[in-house]
Amino acid sequence: MPRAVSPPPLLLLLLSLCVFRASHGCLPDTASAYRFTGIVCRLTYPAAAVLNEKTTKVIEAAFKHAKYPSVKGEKSLLFTGKVTYGLDNLEIHNLSIGRSVFELHPGEGIAMEISNVSAIFRGTIQYGYGSWLVNLAHSVDFEIESQIDLGINPKLYCSEGKVAADTSDCYLNFHKLRLHLQGDKEPNWLKKLFTDFITFTVKLVIKGQICKEINKVANILADFIQDTAKEFLKIGDIVVDIGITTAPVITANYIESYHKGLTSYNNTSSVISESLFHPSQLTEDRMLYFWVSDQVFNPMFTAAHQDGYLKLNISGPELTELFKTNLSNAMPDFTRKCLLESASPELRVWSSSVPYLNTSTLGTRVWAQASGQLDCGSQGTLSFQMDVAVDVTASYADKKLFLHGNPSKVLVSHAEMPSQLLDKAQLEFIREAVEKIGIPKALSVLEIELTKVLDQQGTYLFDISNPEVFPRDGFVLIQMDFGFPHHLLVDFLRKTLQ
Ligand SMILES: *[C@@H]1O[C@H](CO)[C@@H](O)[C@H](O)[C@H]1NC(C)=O
Ligand SMILES: *[C@@H]1O[C@H](CO)[C@@H](O)[C@H](O)[C@H]1NC(C)=O
Ligand SMILES: *[C@@H]1O[C@H](CO)[C@@H](O)[C@H](O)[C@H]1NC(C)=O
Ligand SMILES: *[C@@H]1O[C@H](CO)[C@@H](O)[C@H](O)[C@H]1NC(C)=O
Ligand SMILES: *[C@@H]1O[C@H](CO)[C@@H](O)[C@H](O)[C@H]1NC(C)=O
Ligand SMILES: *[C@@H]1O[C@H](CO)[C@@H](O)[C@H](O)[C@H]1NC(C)=O
Ligand SMILES: *[C@@H]1O[C@H](CO)[C@@H](O)[C@H](O)[C@H]1NC(C)=O
Repeated sequence: MPRAVSPPPLLLLLLSLCVFRASHGCLPDTASAYRFTGIVCRLTYPAAAVLNEKTTKVIEAAFKHAKYPSVKGEKSLLFTGKVTYGLDNLEIHNLSIGRSVFELHPGEGIAMEISNVSAIFRGTIQYGYGSWLVNLAHSVDFEIESQIDLGINPKLYCSEGKVAADTSDCYLNFHKLRLHLQGDKEPNWLKKLFTDFITFTVKLVIKGQICKEINKVANILADFIQDTAKEFLKIGDIVVDIGITTAPVITANYIESYHKGLTSYNNTSSVISESLFHPSQLTEDRMLYFWVSDQVFNPMFTAAHQDGYLKLNISGPELTELFKTNLSNAMPDFTRKCLLESASPELRVWSSSVPYLNTSTLGTRVWAQASGQLDCGSQGTLSFQMDVAVDVTASYADKKLFLHGNPSKVLVSHAEMPSQLLDKAQLEFIREAVEKIGIPKALSVLEIELTKVLDQQGTYLFDISNPEVFPRDGFVLIQMDFGFPHHLLVDFLRKTLQ
């Protein structure tokens, strides 16, 4: 597949948090794409600034890694006839980068300027006189002191369903280019010739190679990123397409990307066509925002239910430990005997209808119907069924997702034991156990699974600070600041370029 991605490397890396790429086309008009957008990612100027701090590392790598080709030529001179020359072994030394600044240009792209790149180029000049000369007879080492400003104006666009960037607008300005010939034993006219020739040639060579190399490093980085952060989330057989619906929008203060958020499972795919997204739902003061519609979560839970994910078996000490929770209702004899006396009691709980969730400013309310069995071996099995509604809020800390549940309804719709009628107290115990033991346990299992999904996307790699999750009407808003771990970039550059 041809790859068009070659943005400024670190901004690209950031954009990858808002993963891109998709399998279908892109809608030309952003506003009309909102309706089909399940997930939105907004990356603000402060976030881009964090990445820009690391840009110099990438530029440095581009300079150091560039291969400067040998150059050959000949020149006619008034008195000596022709001089044939070659320029070989060009190497870069003592590279230092002054500073790197960038701007977001609304509707256009990103402008980056890397100023005061100072470097010393070393190489060898070979030369000979006259057109008859086949072998270059003389050689002299040279050194060039240079000071360069570098500008790149990548344009972001949507191409074949993925974010692409055009970095062809790349330029170099030379402030200084001073040649020193080793030994200085050459005649003055020759020195003059080489100064003009080398200054001119080196400019061309460096210019061509550096822009090319920046492109290349950016592409390698893009591959690296897209290896870590894929265009879909995968949970077993459940796949969530997070390709983009339209080109990202750039304003003076943020870059925003629009993603489908469609769940595919068992050969069917969800559809989003009435999304409620509007840019005014997000602010601009945090570094990174995610907007996620209920229309993304619901099909995911439906698929999870169909795939038998929403199931839990608990036995052994884990089960005994769970029932140590302090409940106000006394534990019925049957349960006590089951837990203490049967050989290997087991509790099985599973979703028995498709769960449904609806987010409002109070939280995400999850409606579910669940069935359970407490299997006590020879003592029999307690079966029960319940309807629950839980208001769930989420938070993220220490690289883990936390879910907090507040049950708003717990109804035991059915309960039975083979040889026993359940009385009111027993039913009440089951209800309380579901509320105080069952729901927290289910959420804690979900926490672990969802943290795994986030880690698949490389979330754990970033130093996330003060993340907040806000429930809103019909969607969840997640916002955070982050630091870009220096070691991540250094490792990457070392592995790929050495
Ligand atoms: C290049 O760096 C080396 C080692 O840091 C130093 O000895 C040398 O003087 C530098 N060359 C120039 C021309 O600054
Ligand atoms: C570039 O470096 C020179 C000397 O090292 C300094 O005088 C100048 O202010 C620098 N310019 C920028 C834009 O950093
Ligand atoms: C998958 O879909 C087919 C029909 O499209 C259905 O018969 C089957 O039960 C589904 N499997 C699951 C696990 O939902
Ligand atoms: C999906 O459809 C393909 C062909 O249409 C079929 O080979 C495959 O078994 C189906 N998968 C499921 C899970 O139904
Ligand atoms: C739970 O237990 C049932 C019955 O013992 C078994 O069929 C099922 O595979 C178990 N599920 C898990 C996730 O262990
Ligand atoms: C259990 O609950 C009772 C009354 O509700 C209370 O007195 C007791 O301190 C609680 N024990 C624990 C360990 O929470
Ligand atoms: C979901 O919540 C919204 C308010 O956010 C409410 O208007 C709507 O009726 C709710 N839907 C269901 C099915 O409860």
